[in-house]
Amino acid sequence: MEVIIFRDAASVADKGAELVEEMLRAKPDAVFGFATGTTPIELYRRLIERYRSGSLSFQRTRSFNLDEYLGLDASSPNSYRSFMDREFFDHVDIRKENTHVPGCGSGENPGQVGPRYESLIREAGGIDLQVLGIGHNGHVGFNEPSSSLRSRTRVKTLTRKTLEDNSRLFKSGEFQPRLAITMGIATIMDARRILLLATGEHKADAVARAVEGPVTAMCPASILQMHEFTTVLLDEAAAARLKHREYYDLAHGENEALKDRFGAFYART
Ligand code: PGA
Repeated sequence: MEVIIFRDAASVADKGAELVEEMLRAKPDAVFGFATGTTPIELYRRLIERYRSGSLSFQRTRSFNLDEYLGLDASSPNSYRSFMDREFFDHVDIRKENTHVPGCGSGENPGQVGPRYESLIREAGGIDLQVLGIGHNGHVGFNEPSSSLRSRTRVKTLTRKTLEDNSRLFKSGEFQPRLAITMGIATIMDARRILLLATGEHKADAVARAVEGPVTAMCPASILQMHEFTTVLLDEAAAARLKHREYYDLAHGENEALKDRFGAFYART
């Protein structure tokens, strides 16, 4: 796991955009895994700016989102499909038919959505770069604590904490789903590269548990310690509870020096 700590959230988004651009340069038809939530919004803004300035194109890419609420129509402003269209897809040249969200149509058996999503990801050749946020409780996607570390895309019940965290996005009296369909932890772990972004002091505890705690289903993000190529991008506030900060900074400096000397070089710490 490579942990890179930046002064602020803006620099986290800048670095995230730089790494996405690097992926596109190496593989213009890369398959991306995208995330919703407050954290990646700044990253999407940076990518839109880079697209507008002509430095990158998503025309040949495909994407798979981590999760979607169950029981909300895709056209609802609170669906993750709407979020992605509004915050990102509508502003770049990705072909909408190549963007996937694990939604369940009305009348459809939600149990069938997961296996179908897994096949689509496999048919696309797997995910090259997965963008992740992290919940207060250590969830990734909607894999809540106690999720199987070998899970695949399926229906999950959201915890009270997640419902509370996300209630700010729903108007009072509006239907807020308690269920979602999420990529599983094994699905996420299959991605060839993972970028986890976390900003703000409210994430410091979850980040410390994910990066330095034991690998446990009670903090699903901790499984990333077993992923071959995960980069964790943090601002100072989200990094505040890490004990090995000095080493992460040192390793980052060394990796940057190697990269300057040998080009795109990654020490997969
Ligand atoms: P947030 O959500 O970016 O809105 O904090 C992250 C998550 O729950 O995965």
